[in-house]
Amino acid sequence: MADVSAHYDGSAPTYHEQYDPEKIWTNADYPANFYRLRKVIDRLRDAGAQSVYEFGAGEATPMIRVHEALGIAVAANDISPEMVRLGRENLQRHGLDPALLSLLDVQDEAAINAEVALRGEFDAVMALGVIPHVEDDAAFVSAMSRFLRPGGTLLLQFRNAMFSMFTFNRLTKEFILDEVMAPIPQKFRDAVAADLDSRLAVDKPPIRTWDKDAPAYDEILARFHNPFELADVVRAQGFGDISFHWYNFHPTYPMIGGQFDPREYREAQIALEADTSWRGMFLCSAGFIEARKSA
Ligand SMILES: C[S@@+](CC[C@H](N)C(=O)[O-])C[C@H]1O[C@@H](n2cnc3c(N)ncnc32)[C@H](O)[C@@H]1O
Repeated sequence: MADVSAHYDGSAPTYHEQYDPEKIWTNADYPANFYRLRKVIDRLRDAGAQSVYEFGAGEATPMIRVHEALGIAVAANDISPEMVRLGRENLQRHGLDPALLSLLDVQDEAAINAEVALRGEFDAVMALGVIPHVEDDAAFVSAMSRFLRPGGTLLLQFRNAMFSMFTFNRLTKEFILDEVMAPIPQKFRDAVAADLDSRLAVDKPPIRTWDKDAPAYDEILARFHNPFELADVVRAQGFGDISFHWYNFHPTYPMIGGQFDPREYREAQIALEADTSWRGMFLCSAGFIEARKSA
């Protein structure tokens, strides 16, 4: 398993591009994080947060945009030295104190203790694109909670395991066998496994083998989460009032997306970002949990 920090050191110089409104149509990859950030800002506004602490802030564009949109206090951390270096420059360029971004590993308890002592409590805490990379979900949510006042708002992004029920590929097979059928006797699971091989595109997505300068996203720990199980983890850490928000919509399953005019396909994706129904649980490859810390 490649190193998460090295991966993000490699992507740091171009990371800001996904937040550039000029590049929404020209970026090769769908600018999912652009829409995620808009939804996050809406949730913080609705919650009336006057301050937010961010885990894994990257090169600081989200904390700067949140500050500019809502005029609220921000502080954050990240494990990647290159993200933090660029993030501090970014903060300074926008008239914010570079020291608002700390270099630390959120899985290091001593580092979290020191950061809590330095920063204090906030009205909201958020982690966007970070829990896929950590080993222990409960410890991660518990660490987030330490930055939050009672009654405060938690925003926790995750890669959506339920999306595999709409991909009809290897991920679907794995989810059905390992999760949906987990309590079912092996004999039945074996039969379903053999049957699914003839029904699903089990050769997709391809497992990447080529070399790159930095380890690719599919070479680092980048877990999917079952939204129901993650909500249980959040609840067990003393949170209630839990809701899901979905983003990164897919009008078709990805493997036939290439059949369509790219502009038309992207227009359909963007239009779907306004959908707040249950469909997001299946059409979206990612989402975030919103929850309130018990008073
Ligand atoms: C997908 S990026 C998202 C960056 C930012 N939150 C955003 O939305 O633009 C995930 C970030 O989490 C950071 N990260 C991953 N594991 C971490 C850890 N254990 N401690 C602190 N930061 C971490 C990475 O370095 C990276 O900058």
